[in-house]
Amino acid sequence: MWPYPKVIAHRGGGTLAPENTLAAMRCGWEHGFAAVEFDVMLSKDGVPVLMHDPEFGRTVPGSGSVADTLATDLQAMDAGKWFADSFKGEPVPLYAEVVRFCRQHGIWMNVEIKPSPGTEEETGRVVAEQTQTLFADVAVVDALHLPLFSSFSFAALMAAKHAAPTIPRGFLVDKVTPDWKARLQELAAKALHTNHKYLTPEQVREVKDAGYGVFCYTVNTPERAAEILHWGVDAFCTDRIDLIPADF
Ligand code: G3P
Ligand code: MG
Repeated sequence: MWPYPKVIAHRGGGTLAPENTLAAMRCGWEHGFAAVEFDVMLSKDGVPVLMHDPEFGRTVPGSGSVADTLATDLQAMDAGKWFADSFKGEPVPLYAEVVRFCRQHGIWMNVEIKPSPGTEEETGRVVAEQTQTLFADVAVVDALHLPLFSSFSFAALMAAKHAAPTIPRGFLVDKVTPDWKARLQELAAKALHTNHKYLTPEQVREVKDAGYGVFCYTVNTPERAAEILHWGVDAFCTDRIDLIPADF
């Protein structure tokens, strides 16, 4: 059974706030979302930070990469201005800061481990170790109060499994591949996370019958959300937190 929320604010605040910032988490929460997805990668000095792109230029100005920049320098970068002047100065947050904010507000987290190329195992290990420390007070049976890791990187998730076996995992794929079950078994994963665009009702049934949850990204119309839920999909993330309510 899927113990987690059904509707999840993608990158914190969907289309309403600069992705992967504390302002985005606040925005999602103010829209009634007590469940968020966000992306985590490592700085040069091995500190987990929230960021989607390994290279600068889209959500932070300039050129360069997250993997070549110290965490303190990332924290000084403006991750809000690209989105709107009203968010100017919104920093790149540390993962630990975001976890603190979410826990203070009772927000459940889908932590997408997003390694910079070549850092898959290190990123999985470090994010898992830090998560274990940040949630050391939560009992393993208390699933709703633990985050769910996901990643397109099998290696990162395997490293996370070794470092923190009690933090649950979901394997992210764009399209469901023939080896999906073997991958989930090796990861001891709870769920398959997949792109709703390529998903079929038969695949949903097959994954669910095998005892796994099905999570879809990124569903942005109420019509499509209703359709995949009807198929048996357990949860989805959305950019349109203005169109799809948290209690959809
Ligand atoms: O975790 C679901 C989704 O966020 C995966 O794609 O590129 O938006 O991180 P992306
Ligand atoms: Mg993501």
